[in-house]
Amino acid sequence: MNITRRSFLAAGAAMPLLGLTRPSLADEGTLRQVATDRKLIYGTAVSTGTLAKDKPFAQLVIDQANMLVAEGETKRKAIEPKQGRLNFAPTERLLAFAEKNGQRMRGHTLLWHEANPDWLLAKLEEGRDDKLLTDYIEKTVGHFKGRMHSWDVINEVIHIDEGGEEDLRISSPWYKAFGSGYIETAFQVAHAADPDALLFYNEINLEADVWWAEQRRTSVLKLLEKLLKKGIPVHALGIQSHLKAYRLDYTDEVMSRFLDEVSDLGLKILITEFDIADVEGPADPAQRDADIAALGRRYLDVAFSKPAVLGCLTWGISDRYSWLSSYDSYKWSDGSLSRGLPFDGDLRPKKLYFEMLNSYRSAS
Ligand code: G3I
Repeated sequence: MNITRRSFLAAGAAMPLLGLTRPSLADEGTLRQVATDRKLIYGTAVSTGTLAKDKPFAQLVIDQANMLVAEGETKRKAIEPKQGRLNFAPTERLLAFAEKNGQRMRGHTLLWHEANPDWLLAKLEEGRDDKLLTDYIEKTVGHFKGRMHSWDVINEVIHIDEGGEEDLRISSPWYKAFGSGYIETAFQVAHAADPDALLFYNEINLEADVWWAEQRRTSVLKLLEKLLKKGIPVHALGIQSHLKAYRLDYTDEVMSRFLDEVSDLGLKILITEFDIADVEGPADPAQRDADIAALGRRYLDVAFSKPAVLGCLTWGISDRYSWLSSYDSYKWSDGSLSRGLPFDGDLRPKKLYFEMLNSYRSAS
């Protein structure tokens, strides 16, 4: 039996969709097949909890994704809740799932101003202790050596409102303890620990056609240029791509130019956390689905027209489990699910799914 068909049946996808017409699922293929055929990544953020408790959801992840990333398990707060006692078990469980199902995995994230354990924040406040930075990276990247496709080494380091040098996020506990040098050290230590892993700088809010996003893009390019000039082993930029369908404008030209500028530096690019917030959109969910699908198609068409783009991971795959439904800025006040991912809360594919397939099919 066709595995795709089986999972959709398990999810109730074969049931008539309240008068909505859509192409036959069995004929459409999966994101996994279509991406893999084109040597592109399609992946999703997952967590051990949902994969273990929700079998139809886990089957959907197996059918659709050729890469996984942990939504939380590989953050420092999860790996080192107590100083020096590194707990790799949850990430190992995800890796075992991925390896069993022929999927790759990426590590997110070695350094971030969020998701740090309290003990670490307290120590960082006490001042500079290089080991707080280097030991963790050495041990974590070293532990998974050869098994991770890539690591987000740094995450969200630009913040234009803080008045810092080169627009760096000076409120970050890492910056406060080490100054900007922590960024270079992190890449060097990660590279030494696993020379084959692709090392990413992952960044948020780079996509919109608004002045502040333009300033962020410029600062990101400057930072990358500086690192490369110094021979720092940064290999790729992760563009998170949490789009907001009814809040911010996106223009193909702006995105296209930025992608060219990054690839001109010799870097690879990955869309790392794609989803589309629908809050403030029309009340009719079908209209929102159509708007989101059209935006997603445009966005990915531009991305996949660039040879430097390795593919895309969505931040979740089904609206059943999406951070957008719980985060204050993006959730609906009536409690309805945000509809920003390719599958709905019943694991049925939405228009976004079919447009994502189309974008992958049109990849150059
Ligand atoms: O672990 C506790 C759990 O014990 C407790 O029962 C539960 C009760 O709410 O909270 C759990 O922790 C939450 C965790 O997600 C797991 O659900 C944290 O409070 C919450 O802050 C955390 O949020 C995550 C956030 O990153 C911070 O780590 C989101 O799920 C995750 O989607 C989000 O992902 C980020 C990327 O890493 C970076 N880019 C933006 C993206 C969205 O914010």
